[in-house]
Amino acid sequence: MLTLKGVSKTYSKDQPVLLPSDLIVEKGEFVSIIGPSGCGKSTLLDIIAGVNKPSGGIIHYKGKDITNQTGHAGYMPQSDVLFPWRTILDNVILPLELQGTGKEKARAEALSFFSQFGLEGFEQHYPSMLSGGMRQRANFLRAFLSGKELLLLDEPFGKLDAMTRHKLQKWFIRICEASGKTVLFITHDMDEAIFLSDRIAVFSPRPGRIIEHIDIPFGRPRTDQLFASAEFVSIKQKLLDLLHSKNHLETR
Ligand SMILES: Nc1ncnc2c1ncn2[C@@H]1O[C@H](COP(=O)(O)OP(=O)(O)OP(=O)(O)O)[C@@H](O)[C@H]1O
Ligand SMILES: [Mg+2]
Repeated sequence: MLTLKGVSKTYSKDQPVLLPSDLIVEKGEFVSIIGPSGCGKSTLLDIIAGVNKPSGGIIHYKGKDITNQTGHAGYMPQSDVLFPWRTILDNVILPLELQGTGKEKARAEALSFFSQFGLEGFEQHYPSMLSGGMRQRANFLRAFLSGKELLLLDEPFGKLDAMTRHKLQKWFIRICEASGKTVLFITHDMDEAIFLSDRIAVFSPRPGRIIEHIDIPFGRPRTDQLFASAEFVSIKQKLLDLLHSKNHLETR
């Protein structure tokens, strides 16, 4: 469904931030990208979303070249993108408005998701009146309401405490499993990547390149018991070895 061939980014000649990278995401797959800070994960997602230009390479979506094009995916950037002057309801309908849906119709459609996203009662609140976890859910609802089959999510649970984060992960995995969306998801967190994904693409440190793809063999729906399984622990050890590999440090 989504194919990246040799996608790279260099801001200045001698300082590449992303080395040519290939990635394939199949329909309905949940693929995570994991890698150290600064290795180019957000750069890659921005390029796929069409909001940053690649220095090289090509992106295909459903067989069409979409390099440098926006509008093919629901996109949740790393930073909070809620406008402080808009209510939560009017924030989350933005992608629908951009697609030309009238405000009232967009509001009605969005309202039907507020309870599922744990935001009921907060429709008319402003972002500053919400907790961090609620703002993350609103940001996610905004990407979700784009109605796109492909979701690009950049560390959606990045700034949350471990307990809230795990609660949100469990909620999020249920929504993804039920909606059948195709997801490309960035995280720093190994447990999160293993728990959520069908496959993990592991990045080297800056300048980033994909050094390995790890298939996650667990079926769905997934439960907390997974964390204690021997297979989970062995995948985590493999990720640790890859992310802390001495070779990568020596070749930087
Ligand atoms: N406009 C820019 N000009 C020059 N360098 C940039 C620019 N934007 C990003 N970079 C550099 O590109 C590198 C990759 O940044 P990116 O945000 O993609 O990393 P990341 O893997 O998402 O990191 P994190 O995990 O901290 O979010 C960083 O070293 C950053 O300083
Ligand atoms: Mg980032």
